[in-house]
Amino acid sequence: MSDTTAMIEVDDLSAEQAGAELARLAVEIAAHDRAYHGEDAPTVSDAAYDALRARNSAIEARFPDLVRPDSPSVRVGATLQSQFEKITHRVPMLSLDNAFNDDDVADFVARIKRFLRVDADMAFTAEPKIDGLSLALRYEQGKLVSAATRGDGVTGENVTQNARTLDDIPEQLSGLDVPEVMEVRGEVYMGKADFLALNESMAAQGKQTYVNPRNTAAGSLRQLDSAITASRPLKFFAYAWGDVSAVQRATQFEMVQLLGQWGFSINPLMGRFDSVDAMLERYRLIEAQRAGLDYDIDGVVYKVDDLALQERLGFISRSPRWAVAHKFPAELATTILEKIEIQVGRTGALSPVARLTPVTVGGVVVSNATLHNEDYIAGIGSDGAPIREGRDLREGDTVTVYRAGDVIPKVMDVDLSKRPAAATPFVFPVKCPACGSDAVRDINAKGRPDSVRRCTGGFICPAQAVEGLKHFVSRNAFDIDGFGEKQAEAFYTWGLVVNPADIFTLQKRNERSLTKLQNRDGYGKTSVDNLFAAIEERRSISLTRFIFALGIRHVGEGNAKLLARHYQTIEAFLAPMEANATLLAQFGGDGVALTKAVNKDQVEGGEPWANLVSIDGLGTAAAQALVQFFADPERRRVVDDLLAQVTPEPVELVVSDSPVAGKTVVFTGTLEQMSRDEAKAMAERKGAKVSGSVSGKTDLLVAGPKAGSKLTKAQSLGIEIIDEQGWLDLVGG
Ligand code: IVH
Repeated sequence: MSDTTAMIEVDDLSAEQAGAELARLAVEIAAHDRAYHGEDAPTVSDAAYDALRARNSAIEARFPDLVRPDSPSVRVGATLQSQFEKITHRVPMLSLDNAFNDDDVADFVARIKRFLRVDADMAFTAEPKIDGLSLALRYEQGKLVSAATRGDGVTGENVTQNARTLDDIPEQLSGLDVPEVMEVRGEVYMGKADFLALNESMAAQGKQTYVNPRNTAAGSLRQLDSAITASRPLKFFAYAWGDVSAVQRATQFEMVQLLGQWGFSINPLMGRFDSVDAMLERYRLIEAQRAGLDYDIDGVVYKVDDLALQERLGFISRSPRWAVAHKFPAELATTILEKIEIQVGRTGALSPVARLTPVTVGGVVVSNATLHNEDYIAGIGSDGAPIREGRDLREGDTVTVYRAGDVIPKVMDVDLSKRPAAATPFVFPVKCPACGSDAVRDINAKGRPDSVRRCTGGFICPAQAVEGLKHFVSRNAFDIDGFGEKQAEAFYTWGLVVNPADIFTLQKRNERSLTKLQNRDGYGKTSVDNLFAAIEERRSISLTRFIFALGIRHVGEGNAKLLARHYQTIEAFLAPMEANATLLAQFGGDGVALTKAVNKDQVEGGEPWANLVSIDGLGTAAAQALVQFFADPERRRVVDDLLAQVTPEPVELVVSDSPVAGKTVVFTGTLEQMSRDEAKAMAERKGAKVSGSVSGKTDLLVAGPKAGSKLTKAQSLGIEIIDEQGWLDLVGG
């Protein structure tokens, strides 16, 4: 099809043709890029090259849903980005947890009160969640010294010159109580009217128009030429802060008012409330005003007002415990479910995907949607009860789809009155479409078949292997320059890289091989040298990235970080996995039952498991998946092969001057001034390790009233024992 699609005007392409054309352009442009950047001479004229890129952008503007991960526009974004200097945020820029309905908000408030052991009313702020991009502005002695985008939350891009062009960003802070160092955070956005006017003028000049205000704001802020940024009507709302030498007010609300007094725009719809009902009332008010506001918002953010309580609440993984984003319901659209296709993921999960007749939802063209799993297609929920009143989904059906935020579109319901007479129930495959192995549904802890059907092929399944490789080299894992998803697929197909360890022997094998990589299509000497250099650089890697890269079920970045911090070295991490495999096997692989027994001190040698599940925030499902992963001899062999090639660096915990830093602490009995969760979080903040059971490794037992067997055991082992007040005195409140 590609030869013919190349001839079709962008406006006349169907979605299918557009997809094929984008695939063709990605390959062709990448080949020209390599020719240009490698040692070979350019293969096309500049004008012809520009025309290819322009065509790619035009198709992507018409079909934003089809933008490929390897798109030349994405890659150019990447090179543009790298032209900005990096700024490491002194305080990470986090994301927010979501609430989708009133109950979620009530749960959020109840959770906080439980954590803090507060019964009385508590104050929360509520304010619109602006749909823009966050920016951190650093002021020293009141003077703007730098502006950084969020980036990955740890490092962002230095966009200081561009930020200075915004009227809403003061060069100098003036007024009361400006601290020496003040990092103000907020959202850059483009007004709706300004966005429409900009698009009209682009169209009038025959230029490409933009997709939505948020992308335009992001693109405008990240221009290399700040004159272009200056010409764009960007605005800024201040709503938070990062690194500061002194926090000048005691509450969120007063701090934001102070930002307003210093010259920032602050959102007029922000308010302070002391009940869930009042918070929800503000939510509805903001929702009612949404369409009339001149800027896009996608929800309401609630924050604990008292800053001392925020501090106590701290963070879970990447979000603060003290804030939540209450999202507005998603926009709906109706279209045809043309086909149901099955994709096989890294963990073997068979994921059904809906191919849809393209339809616009919330300003974006959608042509694919997730169907979750086979029960979802059949009209059965994860608890076994009917969903959509039991209506199943069939190819040819008319369906409603929605998008919530940035997430993949979903299919919500089906209109049975429009079902074609010939439509038949979808038959979910019981063999893996990639390798033909049996695909099965495990029985989960509740005794029900797991909602996900998984391929049992493991290593022989090419889909699992390739997805595993893609994950291994992904941005937050090994992140090898020049080794992305495309290369993972190509190298696998060529038989050069079948598992992660192979990446690190590639160069040696290539030297001996007759069919050298540099002679393959798309490669030259320079690109091969660069690739090998990038691989060499990764022979030493952080323990967090290493654990994350293994692609263990339920072990995402957050859990990988928890594990790395807890065990600190790869040896300390791997050793208990074997002991845990034996323990888990004794309980038929049921982690929940094992935890219960260990907690009751009924398991001989239960310490490694108690230690694993004591990691705050990890969860039993992840613990179980981890242990099962390492118990699989095939996987263990790959890990060992990999460890023969790369060295995970030990984690150096932030040195804390707290007397409990580096100590292993166990809490037992009833705590009266704080919840167990808060006690744990506090200990970890101070650099201590919290364990769930007493052993020779325990340094300190904090025992409240009603302490039982753990207290007796600690006494017999001669471990230091203090009460709750003693603990608070020790760690300084
Ligand atoms: S508070 C610790 N307030 O939402 C998190 N964020 O989903 C502090 N956002 O990255 C963020 N409006 O870019 C906060 N009123 C608001 C916001 C807001 C928009 C964005 C922000 C953040 C993202 C998290």
